[in-house]
Amino acid sequence: MPAQPTMPMGNGYGLGETETKSIFVDTDEFSQNVEFITYELELGYDNWSAEEVLKSVLPTDIPAVTGFSVVGHVAHLNLKETHAPYKSVIGEVLLDKHMNLQSVVNKTDNIDNTYRNFAMELVAGKDDMNVTVKENGCTFQFDFSKVYWNSRLGTEHERVISSITPDTVLYDVFAGVGPFAVPAAKKLATVYCNDLNPHSYKFLSRNLIANKVKGEYKSIIWMVGSSSKT
Ligand SMILES: C[S@@+](CC[C@H](N)C(=O)[O-])C[C@H]1O[C@@H](n2cnc3c(N)ncnc32)[C@H](O)[C@@H]1O
Repeated sequence: MPAQPTMPMGNGYGLGETETKSIFVDTDEFSQNVEFITYELELGYDNWSAEEVLKSVLPTDIPAVTGFSVVGHVAHLNLKETHAPYKSVIGEVLLDKHMNLQSVVNKTDNIDNTYRNFAMELVAGKDDMNVTVKENGCTFQFDFSKVYWNSRLGTEHERVISSITPDTVLYDVFAGVGPFAVPAAKKLATVYCNDLNPHSYKFLSRNLIANKVKGEYKSIIWMVGSSSKT
């Protein structure tokens, strides 16, 4: 029986053999002794991505689940009505496949309220929306169910923050939980920030303190000229 060279299984799929060994082959001997065999490789759940699993378990006549946002340990889905009967399995597969996630929520309403947070339902994992997010060298803690946060604004926040100097005076109206105000104050700017949502204001104030900002800042809960005050 000719010696079988051990081939690297680059992606670790199947066979349980992932070790790579160097072998020296005498090409004459190799061409005489080598034989090609057919090997049946079985791929299972562990080898599939979340997208592949969902594509295979969900009915073919409903739209594919295409992406989700991540806010701390929470995955935020925007499912269609046709996904409703399968939302639990969708959530469980995402938790299984993304080790950084602990909760999966689905948006149940459009953002149309003053505070710009949205109604959500837990579809899998733990019912804890207190998240920690890092952005522009700062840490933000907040209850995602009660305030506005959009991970896709990170680049825009960074663009503005990059132009801040210690001479800057920043009036951050509608400041949310502080993605402009906190890093600006950290860069020694003078910052005035406010938000109408009492929850945003609470987390904004905490985030200013927690990030040990050295700039001058003043956070206020309501805005002069706003239609309502809390
Ligand atoms: C789209 S969010 C933007 C938050 C933040 N700038 C960010 O980038 O994450 C708008 C914020 O404005 C706040 N807001 C709405 N009306 C307001 C008002 N009249 N005065 C102060 N803040 C207000 C909401 O509570 C919400 O946090």
